[in-house]
Parts: sequence; structure tokens; C-alpha cells
Amino acid sequence: MAVGITVAANKGGVGKTLITLNLAGSIRKSFPDAKILVVDTDAQGNTTKSFRVKIKNDQNTIYDVFMGNATVEETIVHTYDNLIDVLPANADNNYLEFDKMEEFRDTILEWFVDLVKKFKENISELMTLEGLKKKMNKHIDPSSNYFNALEGTFDNVQDKYDFIIFDTPPELKQVTSSVLSIADVVLVPYEPDLNGVDGVTHLISRVNTLKDKYNPDLRIGGVLANKVYNTNLHAKMINTMMKYTNRNNYHYFDTEIPRSISFADKLVRSGMPITMSAPENKFSQNFYKLLNEMNEIGLLTKDGTILEIPNQLYLNVEEDE
Ligand SMILES: Nc1ncnc2c1ncn2[C@@H]1O[C@H](COP(=O)(O)OP(=O)(O)OP(=O)(O)O)[C@@H](O)[C@H]1O
Ligand SMILES: [Mg+2]
Repeated sequence: MAVGITVAANKGGVGKTLITLNLAGSIRKSFPDAKILVVDTDAQGNTTKSFRVKIKNDQNTIYDVFMGNATVEETIVHTYDNLIDVLPANADNNYLEFDKMEEFRDTILEWFVDLVKKFKENISELMTLEGLKKKMNKHIDPSSNYFNALEGTFDNVQDKYDFIIFDTPPELKQVTSSVLSIADVVLVPYEPDLNGVDGVTHLISRVNTLKDKYNPDLRIGGVLANKVYNTNLHAKMINTMMKYTNRNNYHYFDTEIPRSISFADKLVRSGMPITMSAPENKFSQNFYKLLNEMNEIGLLTKDGTILEIPNQLYLNVEEDE
């Protein structure tokens, strides 16, 4: 059974995609036999492109999985690496909320017609919002599969992969909620600036709501600082965040991802995550450290078991930036 790991933040540019890609890369190198599925759910398609996947016009994407037009198996594509598959996304996903809303409206109308037929003798019971809501709870709730639209869609591929890693868009609406409703672990990255801390508390509160409603087994893996710079502001914000996670019993990752200008260039030039092209690189090593830390707290398995890492690539060399 694959463990489902997602990276989520309601803010853009905090490194969700970077972390997804390099987590996949570090897992690939550390567990040479592991099969990995990387799922892109962001209309920007950055993860898809980073694995050099090009989507043709009529090709299925995550949009089709959300809409129920195609299965996950029909949508997965192979990459240059025989142990990494990608479930691609493209700009179609921008229309998802709109199209789902239309589908949702039709569901409500059908439901209403059924209800009127059923209660035509006591139609007055349906004539107030309260009355309608009561019937809705009793019979069907048309909104019940809106925020967990991916429910069951990955069941058929659970045994084909060891790790399923989801990249999400910078929002907390239908797409991210649906991913959180089926994942096992969520990592929460943030940039330690003035708004970063607020973003994390909002996200975690939303995660807890979804957890209660749809996915009680979801584990908040921890809060992870990215783009860390050696400034007073960052030090102060990190301190605030650590206090918050401590108080609320969430893990705060000891691993920090520093801001590094040179690595982005490397990712583009080599066409693969830097953790794959250059595991010993100083920037890559942060992700290997993160992988070890995730393993130590049982985040790499569904049941919290700690794994033996067959190919240990974390060199544990402390260097100055
Ligand atoms: N530690 C870092 N050092 C330097 N640049 C970084 C770092 N992390 C991310 N970046 C850069 O910041 C930009 C945003 O990163 P990324 O795309 O991973 O964020 P994101 O959260 O996925 O954004 P979005 O919400 O738009 O999908 C990218 O150009 C990326 O190369
Ligand atoms: Mg992204």
C-alpha cells in the first residue's frame, strides 16, 4: 500500500513544487526499488513540466480524474525514469471549480425534483430553508463529495506504488481539500516572513476541519521553513512558528531549506530534481536530511513504521552557507 504524502500551503511561492520534486527525487535515490507516483494537481503544471512530461491536446489530466471522465490508471504517464510516473496537470484545471459547480448545481436540481416527487403530499414541509436542510441531511447531501472529489480514485493504484506524492495549488479550496481528504501525511512549508506564520495557522485549521470530516487518519507531518535567510526577521518568525507548533503539538522540522539562488538554475539545466542529478550537492543535502527526519517520525509509511534506508545519501556534513 502506497503512502500518500502531500505538500500544502494556501500561499503561492513557498516551495510546494520544489519540495514535492525533491522529495520524489530523494526517495528515488534512497530507496532504489521504490515505485513513485507524482501527482500534479496545480493548473500551472510545474511539476508535470519538471519531469519533462508534455501533454497533448486530447490527453487526460488530473482535471479528467476530478470530473470522473477518466481513471487514475488511464491518466498516468511514464517519465524518463522507469520508477517514477506522473499524473499530469495543465491549464484545464483552472476550469475545474466552475465545471464542478455546474455539475453540483445539476445534482441539487435533480435532488430537489426527487424530493418534491417524494413529498408532494406534504409540500409545505419543503417550503422553508430549514425544512429543506432537514430533508437534505436525512436523505442526501449534494455537497458531500465536493471537497473530497478524489475519494476512491486512487484505490486501484495503491498496490502499484510505494509512494504517491501530491503537489497542490496555492489555495485551500476544492483541489487542495480533495487531496487532503485522501492523503496520509501533509507537510506544511512556509517562508518565515511577516505573513508566513498566519498562513500556516489558517492552513492547519482547515486541515483539521477536513480531517474531522473526511480523513481522520491524516497526519500533519510537520511545519517546514523554506527560503530561510540569515536575518533577524527570519530568526524571529521561526521562533514564533516554533512556539506555535510546540503549543499545539505539531512537529517542527529541524531541517530548514535555505534560500539558494544557484540551485534553481541547476534544476532547469539538468531537467530533473537536483536531489536526483546531484545528491551530494549542498542544497540537495537539505532534502536528504528532511527525508531522514520524516522517516524518524514515521512519515514514510502508512502505519508509522520507521524504514531502513537502503541507500543512505545524507552525508551529515555541517557546512557554513
Ligand atoms: N529555497 C529556495 N531558494 C531559492 N529559490 C527558491 C527556494 N524555494 C523555492 N524557490 C523558488 O521560488 C519560486 C517558487 O517556488 P515553488 O514553485 O516551489 O513554490 P510553490 O509554492 O509551488 O508556488 P505555487 O504556489 O505558485 O505553485 C520558484 O521560482 C522556485 O525556484
Ligand atoms: Mg507550485
